[in-house]
Amino acid sequence: MRAAAARRAGHHLQRQRLRLARPRGAVIEQDGRALLNFSSNDYLGLAAHPELARSLQAAAGAAVGSGASALVSGYRDAHAELEAQLAEFLQRERVLVFTSGYLANLAVIASLVGRRDRVIMDRLCHASLIDAARLSRAGLSRYRHCDTAHLEERLAAGGGMQTLVVTDGVFSMDGDQAPLAAIADRAHRHSGWLMVDDAHGIGVMGPGGRGSVAQQGLGPEQVPVLVGTLGKAFGCAGAFVAGSEALIEHLVNEARTYIFTTAMPPPMAAAASTALALARREGWRRETLRERIAQFRAGADAAGLPLLPSETPIQPVMVGSSERAVQVAQALQERGLLVVAIRPPTVPANGARLRVTLSAAHEARHVTRLLDALQECLPRSR
Ligand SMILES: Cc1ncc(COP(=O)(O)O)c(C=O)c1O
Repeated sequence: MRAAAARRAGHHLQRQRLRLARPRGAVIEQDGRALLNFSSNDYLGLAAHPELARSLQAAAGAAVGSGASALVSGYRDAHAELEAQLAEFLQRERVLVFTSGYLANLAVIASLVGRRDRVIMDRLCHASLIDAARLSRAGLSRYRHCDTAHLEERLAAGGGMQTLVVTDGVFSMDGDQAPLAAIADRAHRHSGWLMVDDAHGIGVMGPGGRGSVAQQGLGPEQVPVLVGTLGKAFGCAGAFVAGSEALIEHLVNEARTYIFTTAMPPPMAAAASTALALARREGWRRETLRERIAQFRAGADAAGLPLLPSETPIQPVMVGSSERAVQVAQALQERGLLVVAIRPPTVPANGARLRVTLSAAHEARHVTRLLDALQECLPRSR
């Protein structure tokens, strides 16, 4: 442990949790001081919505915890209703709710493939997908980020094995989107299954917020396995897998991270149902978010700030060195802005960045403040 601590300190990679309190819209407090929060995945501004709190409280009157795993006695009306609503929203036969996206990803990969199979995934896939592939003991290979020609090479290299191709819909640290139609086409031609983790896309992107898969005109044929979370755009906690009747039955019976864990607290499922209804009903949230994204990108471009090509709420400002990224984050914090520095191993070496995330809870003047502060704190790239 001492060696690991020394290594972290030497590379400016020591991580610390900020103790934050009293979230109100896009504002949060640290030691009584207000910070404008540009580091949350609450893209639609639903986490603090009073209707969610009311649903949670009403359901908690009956019981807070589920008391058991889903297959014992923990599966309740609130879970069944949420699953049915998500299935209808995503136009899938069935949905299965998990306590987190991390566990949903472990469930899917470890129960769909094994020692004799292989997983091929994008190099920038989320850590939970990498861990899931390792847990499954399938052969794991990765293709260059969004490079479908490289995916094709990987697919062609292992004839005869059952193959699961895996990608994020929206990449969590870069904010760009996978070319799903081209990936689906390659997977299909090599008889592979495609799994998309759209944790950052569902609720936000595509028609009615149905995510990256719907946005790119695809459905269950091309993407038979779809994962989403409830802890980001829906402002709650938990996650889900959407797919065919057969897939969900398989997971209920085989997925160890579903079977051997206490079911999601029913009040959380009730709150998530309310969040889904609000996200569907209040299209203005996605409109506002799109306006903030456009405002941020136009302002950053005019100021010569180094952005990545992203049309999503995730708008990383590239810095490179971890030390510098931490310094800039600190300088922003002194100006009342919370933008967390993301460093290796979460991102590649020399890929440290300020991961700006935008939300429908932000007002235009908040984005203007962020742009002004970034220009003060960052050296210009042109
Ligand atoms: C792409 C992606 N998948 C899965 C997860 C895990 O979801 P959860 O936070 O619900 O465990 C995250 C982030 O947390 C993510 O960014």
